[in-house]
Amino acid sequence: MRRGIRRWRPLLALALGWTVVVAACDDAGRPNVASAPAATSVSNRAGETTQTVHQRNGKIKIGFSMATLQEERWRKDRDMFRAAGEALGAEVIIMAANNDDANQISQVETMISQGVDILVVTPHNAEAAATIVKKAHSAGIKVLAYDRLIKNADIDLYVSFDNEKVGELQANAIKALVPRGKYVYIGGADTDNNAHLFKKGVFNVLQPYIDRGDITIVYDQWSKDWTPRSALSNMREALRANGNRIDALIAANDATAGGAIEALAEQGLAGRIPVAGQDAELAAIRRIAGGGQTMTVYKPIKLLADKAAELAVKLAMGETVETNRKLNNGKIEVPSVLLDPIAVDKTNIDDTVIADGFHSREDVYGNVKPK
Ligand code: GAL
Repeated sequence: MRRGIRRWRPLLALALGWTVVVAACDDAGRPNVASAPAATSVSNRAGETTQTVHQRNGKIKIGFSMATLQEERWRKDRDMFRAAGEALGAEVIIMAANNDDANQISQVETMISQGVDILVVTPHNAEAAATIVKKAHSAGIKVLAYDRLIKNADIDLYVSFDNEKVGELQANAIKALVPRGKYVYIGGADTDNNAHLFKKGVFNVLQPYIDRGDITIVYDQWSKDWTPRSALSNMREALRANGNRIDALIAANDATAGGAIEALAEQGLAGRIPVAGQDAELAAIRRIAGGGQTMTVYKPIKLLADKAAELAVKLAMGETVETNRKLNNGKIEVPSVLLDPIAVDKTNIDDTVIADGFHSREDVYGNVKPK
């Protein structure tokens, strides 16, 4: 029985810390593309070579399994990934699982039966998605984890942002405004590895201040499936438990920040304490422009979608892939490409999200830009 590619081998370290890795031979002895010219006859699906894929339909078929389209960013990911894949001449099939693990697994089974050459997966549940990797690999299909890591699985590649840095940017911005006081942390979904990385980043920065007694975390809770509703009820609880005496709020993304801000508004506290979010959602950028939120973290989705599509096609062709990091997923050191997130506050909205066309000036400010 054929087995999927089990590991990557770094070949040589390049300048700037990038590493060239290639799809190594599997136990069936398929060629290592380090010594074989790319796009010749590198196997990538059971019983097929790259050549036969091209003969079959002339196109690499990419399956993109998304956990959700709930947040605005994922709709950008969907559209930008499709555009990037198609610009590279690939056929792109996309399915979104509505935050349901069983649904995501069965959608992936469908894509495998539709003959995808490569799977790109944003897991709803970091652990449960290991099943997806096993299924793909036993069909000879490589798996690229998109934005969210898949835990305890032999994934072939991870492309995301530096998610720990996201949390550090949030904490640095809020700590500068509130060097002492009571903080609330509203986390993301416990099932999403990113939520853990964001939180780790926040505490990398805050821990020394907590140890010194300058900062106290008075409430710290995950938000089920990242919903604003869950964040709203958590924030209500945080306010109730602390008699409304809270000095700062860090929320794992803008959607949960929005829910938490609603709870602040119920107590007449909206705009009165610094709030951090993430994703640079339009609603959050508008809140920042209007003073209801202090900052967000912008992740240029186009860079992610373009990079992931490019590397997905390369993986499908058995070509070399350059990475810049390794992340332990509990099973292997996953070759990873991590892009840089950017802190956005009132002072740089124009130079970041508007300059990039992530949001239009009109959408952010309406007709009149405030001074
Ligand atoms: C995270 C992602 C965030 C946010 C969240 C909710 O994994 O990195 O950008 O959108 O999921 O879906």
